[in-house]
Amino acid sequence: MKIIGIEHIGIATESIEKIAPFWKKVLKLNHIHRETIEKMGVITDIYDTGRGKVELLEQTGQESSIAKFLKKKGPGIHHICLEVENIEEAISELKQADIQLINDVPLKGAEENRVVFIHPKSTGGVLVELVQKPK
Ligand code: CO
Repeated sequence: MKIIGIEHIGIATESIEKIAPFWKKVLKLNHIHRETIEKMGVITDIYDTGRGKVELLEQTGQESSIAKFLKKKGPGIHHICLEVENIEEAISELKQADIQLINDVPLKGAEENRVVFIHPKSTGGVLVELVQKPK
């Protein structure tokens, strides 16, 4: 598979509203996107640093993976996301290497991206998202 770079770092928070002013007003990052992804149970709020983005994540309900993460670990870095050229190719290579995936069919993420999540057990303790952007 071909990794293009770090696309974003995902941060789980109890409240986007409370933490957004730090990213928006103190660091003066460009706010580029906000979206509720019902299927994943998340609200995502994205800022561009110029080289890689920061994604703030808030739960939409108790069943959300973000709710579970906050309960277990508290607020903080939730995942890192690497951009790949071809997500199907990446998935098949990961499966061949016996890497534990959260989903093995690409999910629709924010900004019409297609994403797959790799289990922290296989990565050294960090949830890793791979993304292929729409052409
Ligand atoms: Co993400």
